[in-house]
Amino acid sequence: MAILKIARMGHPVLARIADTVPDPTAPDIKRLVGDMIETMQDANGAGLAAPQVHVPLRVVVFQAPEGRSDPGIAEAERFDHSAPLTVLVNPEIQVVDSTSEGGWEGCLSVPELRGWVDRPAHIRYRGFDTNGNLIQRTARGFHARVVQHECDHLDGVLYVQRMRDMKKFLFESEAQHWARRDPENG
Ligand code: NI
Repeated sequence: MAILKIARMGHPVLARIADTVPDPTAPDIKRLVGDMIETMQDANGAGLAAPQVHVPLRVVVFQAPEGRSDPGIAEAERFDHSAPLTVLVNPEIQVVDSTSEGGWEGCLSVPELRGWVDRPAHIRYRGFDTNGNLIQRTARGFHARVVQHECDHLDGVLYVQRMRDMKKFLFESEAQHWARRDPENG
């Protein structure tokens, strides 16, 4: 396995629609997924999409803690090594309840920054693992947020494009000023 270079905001690979994977069980897809997991963990990210490592294919990996609704704002809170690891090839998302929920997001392609993003709080998703098994789940809270964030990458969308209030776009190093405040009222 290898640690791959991460594309940063402005690279065209992050702005295009990624291609469907013809065979999720192909050896080159298994190798890509292994490298993506190693790259995500090395970079201390909660998720990674293939376009972020310059591969325009519909593949995401993520580790989302089940019981958490707030991703936290600080760098140290972003990644939970104990959370279950999920690989999704050709993922699809359905919104179960369009009621939206706000939360802080960060992205390995937008380093050192955090932004407040509203997203549907309750989704259903499906995709394939690299053994060809169908994975189908419902997700809420941080889990739902991570899946939507990663799948957005497959459609050329960064979280920054979903922000409605640029006052809530800040450097992680300044997160201490926000951590104990509700930004909706702040
Ligand atoms: Ni991202």
